[in-house]
Amino acid sequence: MSDSRTQFKSKFGIIMASVGSAVGLGNIWRFPYEAGQNGGAAFLIIYIVCVLVLGIPTLMAEMTMGRMTQTNSARAFRKMTQSPVFSKVGYLGVLACVLIMGFYTVVAGWTFEYMWEAVSGTMTDLSAEQFTANFNSFVVSPFRPLFWTILMVVLTHLIILGGVQKGIERAAKWMMPMLFLLLVVLCVYSVMLPGASAGLEFLFKPDFSKITSEVVLSAMGQAFFSLSLGAGVMITYASYFDNDVNIPRTATTVALLDTSVAFLAGILIFPAVFTFGIEPTQGPNLVFVTLPNIFAQLPMGSVLAFAFFLLLALASITSLISLHQVVTAYVAEEFKLSNRKAALVVSCTIAVLAVLCSLSLGVLNDIRVGGLCMFDLMDYVTAKIMMPLGSLLLCLFLGWKVEKSKILNEITNYGTLRWRLAKTFVVMLKYVVPILVALVFINELGLFE
Ligand code: TRP
Repeated sequence: MSDSRTQFKSKFGIIMASVGSAVGLGNIWRFPYEAGQNGGAAFLIIYIVCVLVLGIPTLMAEMTMGRMTQTNSARAFRKMTQSPVFSKVGYLGVLACVLIMGFYTVVAGWTFEYMWEAVSGTMTDLSAEQFTANFNSFVVSPFRPLFWTILMVVLTHLIILGGVQKGIERAAKWMMPMLFLLLVVLCVYSVMLPGASAGLEFLFKPDFSKITSEVVLSAMGQAFFSLSLGAGVMITYASYFDNDVNIPRTATTVALLDTSVAFLAGILIFPAVFTFGIEPTQGPNLVFVTLPNIFAQLPMGSVLAFAFFLLLALASITSLISLHQVVTAYVAEEFKLSNRKAALVVSCTIAVLAVLCSLSLGVLNDIRVGGLCMFDLMDYVTAKIMMPLGSLLLCLFLGWKVEKSKILNEITNYGTLRWRLAKTFVVMLKYVVPILVALVFINELGLFE
């Protein structure tokens, strides 16, 4: 933000803010249901490959770009090139962030409903079918979800007004470690459930015949989504980095932590899915209908449920903040608005989109594009098209249009870091990432058949 271009205070704060962006509903809500729909372990393997080969290099690329340009992601590209294509890549990211926030706030709002249910004691002694029926009637109802969604927008808005250091950094520093701990505790319980071995087998024993082009596209989309890539988030965050931040190490740490949280979520969910007879393929409601079964059986279950959904809400907020920050920084710097005004414009836009997305699960469900309702459409278009495409273009740009020495300087902090893979990194940017992403796209379009 031009009026307050502050920097992150500590190294720990930097990692936690980036992890805060990466870790969120993507890990705990989206990962398990995507894995469930795409064959479990088969998906997991492709996912890991995508994180290692595409995710980590792209994360480093975004951080390099952000620190090199020190500005919002839209201007970052314009500052570096006049090419008609590449100078617009930043806008693609800003648009992606707006669309993601549209459905993300809705799901984040659901966590409030579950906190409420935990407190009011309605989350006990029901059968798996009843939990499912309750959830399904909740999401399609026109008012309750909207209320929570709007509350989520307001909370995000208030944190954004707190600024980078006070708001984001302070919030992320203690929420993330707490969430991690609680997940580990719940996993220990989950793997002792009677259906645990079936669940773990589903998640870890691959059936390679299940790998289809759809599975590969989903895994790639999930990797980009979970690491917050291809939308300028890390470009924006890295624009607040100090010159001595070790980019390769920061990126690897963020990717590792993010992937561990997704794994933990899988280990938590699938044993319970198989114990309580829930369909692993049932989609976006998977986590929300599975977890209450676990909590209902635990001693002090409603306390744990409340704590869990609170932390999940907080994890979603740190992700939402990162998305919001990209758009707010863009609006403030491009339209010369104060930070406050820019944030307000963004929050109002999201509120409208989120309300539409939420209603698209109920009363507006008949309005469909390509067979998808608005909620599913925004998820599909962002994760499976815009983020991979944004990443592809960023890598092509850095790999081909920027002098190699500039990139090497940035990634090694002007030679003060010894990083043996620096040259490999450039090769990944130039060839590996673009070719692989392009192949997945081409394959999905069915052009290989
Ligand atoms: N990565 C976050 C999650 O897993 C979501 C997210 C935050 C995101 N910022 C993003 C996704 C930017 C794509 C792009 O919940």
